[in-house]
Order: sequence, then structure tokens, then C-alpha cells
Amino acid sequence: MSEHLIDPEVIELVAKLKTKYDKNGQDFKAYLEGLIYQEYTSYWDYIQIDTLLSLQKPKTDIPDEQIFIMYHQITELYFKLTLHEINQLKAKKNELNAEFFVARLKRMNSYFKNLIHSFEIMIDGMEPAQFLKFRMSLLPASGFQSAQYRMIEICATPISNLVSHTVREDLKSAGLEQQFEKIYWKSGATELSSGKKTLTLTQFEEKYAFELLRLAKESEDNNLWKLYLSLPESEQQKSELKEALKEFDKSVNIQWPLMHYKSAVRYLQKSPADIAATGGTNWQKYLPPRFQLRVFFPDLYSQEELSNWGKPN
Ligand code: HEM
Repeated sequence: MSEHLIDPEVIELVAKLKTKYDKNGQDFKAYLEGLIYQEYTSYWDYIQIDTLLSLQKPKTDIPDEQIFIMYHQITELYFKLTLHEINQLKAKKNELNAEFFVARLKRMNSYFKNLIHSFEIMIDGMEPAQFLKFRMSLLPASGFQSAQYRMIEICATPISNLVSHTVREDLKSAGLEQQFEKIYWKSGATELSSGKKTLTLTQFEEKYAFELLRLAKESEDNNLWKLYLSLPESEQQKSELKEALKEFDKSVNIQWPLMHYKSAVRYLQKSPADIAATGGTNWQKYLPPRFQLRVFFPDLYSQEELSNWGKPN
């Protein structure tokens, strides 16, 4: 082909582009000229490497604090990926099918599988002596204040399933705001000594309570469980879908909490006097899944499975 002849495919692409810009009343030629000067995309700009690597700001010069910060950041990114999948499911509300549901759940399950497996980094990957020093500089911050963790729960199940298990049955048919007031983490985060709300909780509520309640209202009829129920009966019965939902439920409510609890035991359980949690909770009574009894999709389990929830096999 002579160098002056332009490939017809290129001409077709240019025509399509022109249509796109014309639609918005834009000067197509000006945009084309802009392309001449535009830089090629680089990995570092696209992935925002410089910004990403500038986000680790330790409070001390104790080396293992870097591990603690980065592992929390990695976890928050996985939480964000999980919410990204959930939001795609919520957006499909009236046109969802089992195939799409399973595909997205499988992705969510693989994110949590990675989190559960990699939690070793927290359990064995830091020197306890270093951890016990730098944690004192972080008070009263705690992973308890992770809003994305709460958002995943709120988008997964009706709030009635997140009410503190001691009053869950009593509030079964209460209104959403009343149930939200008794959500498990509000009643769980009380100080060991006084029984009052911890500062960790008060701060968290100041920053996020309004946003989380808004999300709870928006998700009342659009959470994973309601989406499941909106499918035709034949789709609901697909075992792949039920299994994927159960895997997600157990990953978030049993396996991740168990790995997390192991880290608390490793660093904070030092007899005779246990070391207080940074968030000040009675963590031995609060964290284990067999005490929390949080289940996103209780109707998918037998009575026996529910009564063994979170207990060692
Ligand atoms: C050495 C590592 C860790 C220890 C010793 C630890 C300890 C604790 C303790 C004691 C609590 C209870 C609240 C409090 O009083 O602070 C808690 C809550 C929590 N932590 Fe961690 N944590 C660790 C790592 C992490 C990581 C990496 C994450 C990831 C984001 C995380 C997320 C959470 C969440 C979401 C809660 C609330 C759990 C619930 O309400 O059931 N933690 N943590």
C-alpha cells in the first residue's frame, strides 16, 4: 500500500470517532490534534505508583509498623473489590440471573480466600515485641473502624441479621432504625472496665453512622439476600448459587474472623493480665464468631449447621 493511502479500517474508525465527538458538539479536529502531543500511558502513571507508595505513614520508626500499615491497606483494597462486585449485583436488581450472581460471588470468594490465607502475615509476620510497642502510638485507632467491612455486611443481608444476637429475636419485626441502633458492633464495643461505649466506637459513629444508616436504608430491598429471593424459584434452587452464597457467608463470618482472632490471641493474650485491645473492647468475648453468631443467609442452613456456627469442627 502506498504511504499516502490510508487503510479503510482506519478511515472507518476515524468516522466513528468523529460521530462520537459530534454528538457532544465537540471540535473533532482539535481532539485529533491533541493526540499528537499526548504522552503514551506509562505503568507508573496508570497504576499511580508514586501515590500508592507514599501512603505508608508510620507513627514510629519501629520497622514492623510498616508491615502492619501495608497489610491493612491491602485488606481495604480487597474490601473495595468485594464492594465493587456487590455494587454490580445491586445495579442489576431487576435483570439478575443465577449465572451472573454466581460469577460475581466466585470473585468475592476468591478475594476473601486470599485475605484468609494471607492473614498469616499478621499472625506470624511481625515481632510481638515490636508490635506491642508501636500499637501504643496508634490508640484508639482499631480495624474496628473499617467502614468498608461494615458496608460489606450491610449490603449482604437484612439489618435484622446484624442485630446483636442477644436481642436479635426480640427485634425481628422492629423498624430498620431501631434494629440499626442495636447492630452488633454498637453493643459489642464497650469498655472492659466501665461498660461505656469505647472512644473507638464514638469516633467511628461520628464519622460514619449517618452514611452507614443511609446505606442500610438503600440496601433494605437491595442486598444479596433480597437479590437472591428476587430470582425465579428454579434459579434459587441452583446448588452452585446456594454454595457460593454459603461460601461467602462462612468466609466473612467465620474464617476471616477466626484468622483475625488468632492474631489478637498471638499479640494480646499474655497471662496473667491480658493486654488491652487498642480499641478497648473485651475482645475475647467480642471477636470469636461462635459468640457473634453473625449469619448473612440463615435460611440456607440446617438447624445443626446454625447451632455449630463458628465452633471448631
Ligand atoms: C496484629 C493484628 C491485629 C490485631 C492484634 C487486631 C486486634 C483487634 C481487636 C482487639 C479488635 C476488637 C476491637 C478493639 O478493641 O480494637 C479488632 C477489631 C477489628 N479488626 Fe483487628 N486486629 C489486627 C489486624 C487487623 C487487620 C489487618 C484488619 C483488616 C482491616 C483488622 C480489622 C478489624 C475489624 C474489621 C474489626 C472489627 C471486627 C468486628 O467488629 O467483629 N484487624 N481487631
